[in-house]
Amino acid sequence: MPQFDITPVAVPKISTRFRRIRTKMPAPQSLPVLEEMRRYEPQSMQGMPPVVWKRGDGALVEDWWGNRWIDWSSGVLVTNAGHGRKPIVDAVVKQAKSGLLHSYLFPHKLRGKLARMLVERAPKTMDKCFLLSTGSEAVECAIKLCRTRGRQADPKKLIIVSFARGFHGRTLGAQQAGGIPGLKTWIGNLDPAFAQVEFPDGFRFKDTSFEVFEKQLAGAGVDPRLVCGVIMESYQGGGASFAPVDYMRKLRAWCDRNSALLVCDEVQAGFGRTGKYWAFEHYGVRPDFICCGKGISSSLPLSCLLGNHEVMDLYPPGSMTSTHSANPICCAAAIANLQLIDRERLVRNAAKMGERLFAGLAKLQQAHPTRIGAVHGKGLVAGVQCVKAGGEEPDGDLAFRVVDLCYKRGLLMFAPVGFGGATVKIAPPLVVNAAQLDESLAVLAEVFAEAV
Ligand SMILES: Cc1ncc(COP(=O)(O)O)c(C=O)c1O
Repeated sequence: MPQFDITPVAVPKISTRFRRIRTKMPAPQSLPVLEEMRRYEPQSMQGMPPVVWKRGDGALVEDWWGNRWIDWSSGVLVTNAGHGRKPIVDAVVKQAKSGLLHSYLFPHKLRGKLARMLVERAPKTMDKCFLLSTGSEAVECAIKLCRTRGRQADPKKLIIVSFARGFHGRTLGAQQAGGIPGLKTWIGNLDPAFAQVEFPDGFRFKDTSFEVFEKQLAGAGVDPRLVCGVIMESYQGGGASFAPVDYMRKLRAWCDRNSALLVCDEVQAGFGRTGKYWAFEHYGVRPDFICCGKGISSSLPLSCLLGNHEVMDLYPPGSMTSTHSANPICCAAAIANLQLIDRERLVRNAAKMGERLFAGLAKLQQAHPTRIGAVHGKGLVAGVQCVKAGGEEPDGDLAFRVVDLCYKRGLLMFAPVGFGGATVKIAPPLVVNAAQLDESLAVLAEVFAEAV
């Protein structure tokens, strides 16, 4: 796996309306901070370009030494409403100053309000919201509730079906539902009640017909009646890839026929990212559960599971909880964020800016047809799939080089590492404007030409 070098190198100075590069990269003054982290943290924490963030403002991020980037990462798809937004900052400060920093399950005023706001934004069939802290926790809880319900019908009805190349988090259940073999080797004794089928992205797996789903389950000896839940990312995060609409409608019908619950993991897809409030809206199907996280607050750690009371109420009072569930400051941030997304019509902006982004990326692909195998995504999330010249073999080195060169020119993004793919992932905050997008696309074009 390539690693970001932290030896400062001279790079051309840049000063535009949005970007400013004044120092070597990384900034020499940042070395003590970077070295301290390298000394005391596991190396797994070194996956992002070595920029020491000072503050963010909308779609821009600054370091401490006068450099400024256009951010195409949203801090890994968190800051949907933009970095450092004042209404969120104000809500956080107000809550912190009130003197209530934590209450565990003791009621506080913001918890019910936030749960109601989230239910109001979900399909009508979902009338309950369980607030948690991380996306992985929301996924774990969905798995638990699918199995709990399934086993009430038949003790053997506990199979969870998920998709190759999927990612649902790094905890034990979430990682088993995930479809990246390299991330699961540590588990050793994989639970045989997790079954996996190919994700129909049409690129890494060509046959997008729903028959594959049924055939692969049959091939694995899975009795459909024993499947309690099917979990999928509404778009697959590693490559920003969507399934065909027809496939999803058939999947919904299959789940209904077999009394299995459909879980859409919207941890990175929700809250407007794809140009619709929820990414599953692109398919015209409704899941039974939505796992949320990341963009729910545009800032502090908060997640939730949305579903119907029949499953959400399976556990009695006090028996399905988490210590930091619905922390009051996180709730304040999330409420302000949801209001901001509505007030500023950020879902619409994501759809509109997305058209501009994908027009630019289509040109980039035309310029490098042998090195860009596909461009996937919708709205303000895109995956530029890098391949080795003339074939379809993923080229992780090229993706890494692009990200590395971009950060040295004032454009921040990431290539998901450890995912076995080779995607340059693009996900600016939903407040990004046309001028910022155009400038970023120009940088990407320049860098790609150099990196290939
Ligand atoms: C689709 C998806 N699900 C779940 C998770 C896990 O979320 P967290 O890192 O907050 O546990 C992620 C994180 O990247 C994700 O992208």
